[in-house]
Amino acid sequence: MSDSPVAIVTGGAQGIGAAICIELLKKGYRVCVADIQELKAEEFARDQQKMYGEGNVTAIRCDVSKESDYSNLFEKTLGKFKRIDVLVNNAGTILESDPRKCLEVNLLGPLTGCHMALKYMGKSKGGVGGSVINTASVLAFLPCPEMPAYVASKHGIVALTRSFGIPFHYDKDEIVFAALCPFIVDTELLKTENKTLDPAMDLSQRIVRMSPEYTAKGVLKILEDKINGSSLAVLPDGYHYIEFQDIRKYLMHQK
Ligand SMILES: NC(=O)c1ccc[n+]([C@@H]2O[C@H](COP(=O)([O-])OP(=O)(O)OC[C@H]3O[C@@H](n4cnc5c(N)ncnc54)[C@H](O)[C@@H]3O)[C@@H](O)[C@H]2O)c1
Repeated sequence: MSDSPVAIVTGGAQGIGAAICIELLKKGYRVCVADIQELKAEEFARDQQKMYGEGNVTAIRCDVSKESDYSNLFEKTLGKFKRIDVLVNNAGTILESDPRKCLEVNLLGPLTGCHMALKYMGKSKGGVGGSVINTASVLAFLPCPEMPAYVASKHGIVALTRSFGIPFHYDKDEIVFAALCPFIVDTELLKTENKTLDPAMDLSQRIVRMSPEYTAKGVLKILEDKINGSSLAVLPDGYHYIEFQDIRKYLMHQK
């Protein structure tokens, strides 16, 4: 029985998630591809099994907006691999026509994932500890009038990453939380709903796009650096941690 580390990647069937799965497999992780597109996830997992071994890749259907799907995902992954070291909360969508759904998938999904990670990976609960990486975006730091729901969800991901990524949780559970914040990446996501956007905001029209592979390498950097509560911007010119101004010291002294 292998005791190599295990990663779950949501939205792992295509795009950035699929590239993250491959980078992790190359590093010797066993990987669970979790996606709402069940058949696509299974097909992708089968392809990777040919390269990395049948016992090292699995696929599980999971709609991240459903808490019961998340529990099932963790239970089944533990059942198969006996440990979970990394969760990449990567699934996301642009859905301005249904902002409630957009927030359920992009924000409540990762929030549920973080709680599940504490429950199933936390040392205080008998887990092995590890890392949770939440895929945000550079739009976590910028306004965008055409995509308020998407942008709010990405701002929220950084907020929840910073809130879980504090000593209060780490001291108990030894899980590092960090956010991956890519610039524009060449994936299917760019084709979603963009026809409704002002051409100036249409990301699919932008010339500078990064590859999913280059973006996925940011996950390896986060796993190596282990900076709790951090946000790594993935930009065409490289990988940069975002500095946050600590306004707590001003707020604490207000009368
Ligand atoms: N492409 C970009 O320019 C870009 C930039 C910054 C951040 N991101 C973020 O990167 C992440 C991955 O996006 P991508 O560009 O690879 O897009 P993509 O559309 O190619 O992949 C998204 C994946 O998420 C899955 N998914 C969607 N809803 C789901 C749900 N409810 N439950 C489970 N899986 C679900 C899809 O089936 C798909 O496999 C997203 O969070 C996205 O917001 C993308």
